Amino acid sequence: MPQPHLRTVVVLAAGEGKRMKSALPKVLHPLLGRTLLGHVLTAAAPLAADRTVVVVGHGAEQVRAHLTEIAPGATPVLQAQQLGTGHAVRIALEAVPEASGTVVVINGDVPLLRAETVAALVAAHEGEGAAATVLAAEVPDPTGLGRIVRDAAGRLEQIVEERDATPAQRALREINAGIYAFDAVRLRDALGKLSTDNDQGEEYLTDVFGLLVSAGEPVGVHVAADHVETLGCNDRVELAGLRRLLRDRVNEAWMRTGVSILDPETTWIDVTAAVERDAVIDQNTQLRGTTVVGAQAVVGPDVTLIDTVVGAAATVLRSHAVGAEVGPGASVGPYAYLRPAARLAEKSKVGTFVEVKNSEVGPGAKVPHLSYVGDATIGAKANIGAATIFVNYDGVNKHRTVVGEAAFIGCDTSLIAPVEVGAGAYVAAGSAISQDVPPGALGVTRAPQRSIEGWVARKRAGTVSAAAAERALAEGASGGGPVAREGEAIHGDAETVGRPSAAGDTATE
Ligand code: UD1
Ligand code: MG
Repeated sequence: MPQPHLRTVVVLAAGEGKRMKSALPKVLHPLLGRTLLGHVLTAAAPLAADRTVVVVGHGAEQVRAHLTEIAPGATPVLQAQQLGTGHAVRIALEAVPEASGTVVVINGDVPLLRAETVAALVAAHEGEGAAATVLAAEVPDPTGLGRIVRDAAGRLEQIVEERDATPAQRALREINAGIYAFDAVRLRDALGKLSTDNDQGEEYLTDVFGLLVSAGEPVGVHVAADHVETLGCNDRVELAGLRRLLRDRVNEAWMRTGVSILDPETTWIDVTAAVERDAVIDQNTQLRGTTVVGAQAVVGPDVTLIDTVVGAAATVLRSHAVGAEVGPGASVGPYAYLRPAARLAEKSKVGTFVEVKNSEVGPGAKVPHLSYVGDATIGAKANIGAATIFVNYDGVNKHRTVVGEAAFIGCDTSLIAPVEVGAGAYVAAGSAISQDVPPGALGVTRAPQRSIEGWVARKRAGTVSAAAAERALAEGASGGGPVAREGEAIHGDAETVGRPSAAGDTATE
């Protein structure tokens, strides 16, 4: 059995990325769920390196802070001045004097790189016992990239930067992807010999190859199967291009596991999200962060889910959710907004123009229209009528509201927290409830209605309303009379106000 190789990963992330024209360091730009740096570290993760060094420089503090979040085990090493990729690796290795075995170097801006490709590069390198191996790719447009220069026998001679290349070398389409495996000892030795005798006056990591070849050391080229993986990112146009490519890769992978994606070009799934079999993702949908969509759920069109879990067979239509849970068979939207800790139990419904925050909506409970639900617990099968507001904030503190099982809240109600409506209780439409309603009771607060006869004719004479009223009264007042009578009844009898039919007509639609 061969000895296990000690491995060190070095990620180069000190450059400014001038052409991004951004206050954010280039490697921190996001791409479908990870930063560019996050993608590179993920591709290197299966190497199980003994140590990972990230060379930071521009925006070092921001990059360091990001590393503590996503890769606390990685060691940031400061390259105060960006004197070239060779200089960057030299500084990285000075910080890990004990590193031996294989050193894998990856440019921080190649986010489409697959873990399998890095692993294959390292396996080829270690298998050959090479001093250095470069990942190369045949690309349609090599502009701006270093070229792989081979001898007549096809062996690597050197890597030449475009600006230092001869016209014949520039015509080569085999490029250096900026991903390498080195033998630590021979790399250290060669880095000590780098010159700055080039167009940029920098220490080029790529010159290590020419030096090793001159010294008669074995070097290798590993050609990537798919050149797309080696694409770098220099400006925001290229970043958008990479985003489209990654979108297609992610969507294809989910479709192959049995997910229906109706319009892949408008479906953007972060690499960190997951979708179960037979889910249907309709057009213009984004699944971001740690979102999981369950089996047979239907999501979209026009849905954004961030860190949200959608249960099996649930539906989410034209809605936005952040940090929410949608239970199995639940129904959301159109036009719902679920905020953090909105937890919708199985078969519950949150409908049109409804916002839910930090609340549980119980199994089978319904909040169908035009409501705000904040800091509430809604029991199973409760029905929350249209335009109910859970008044949770007194200007200083937030308070909770509890609505019991199968309670019925009439339309246009304010539930002023802290307050509890008991199981099976009713609240009359148009009430402002600030005291607990016992189980099975009717809660009602409502000013008595008055209908002032003839008011329109007196105060709004000459309007279309006045004309309509005059016609109606002349025809026998079929519309006006009952209103007046109902007004009388309401005035006199509070019990009538809370009639379930009066409270609930629109709530159950
Ligand atoms: C480099 C390669 C080129 C290759 C290309 C692939 C060299 C000399 N050239 O060119 O052959 O085709 O990548 O994309 O290596 N960085 C530092 N410190 C520095 C300089 C750079 O950390 O002093 C980092 C950058 O942040 C970046 C990476 O190294 O992540 C590559 O640097 P960049 O300037 O983009 O090199 P290229 O000119 O693209
Ligand atoms: Mg570059």
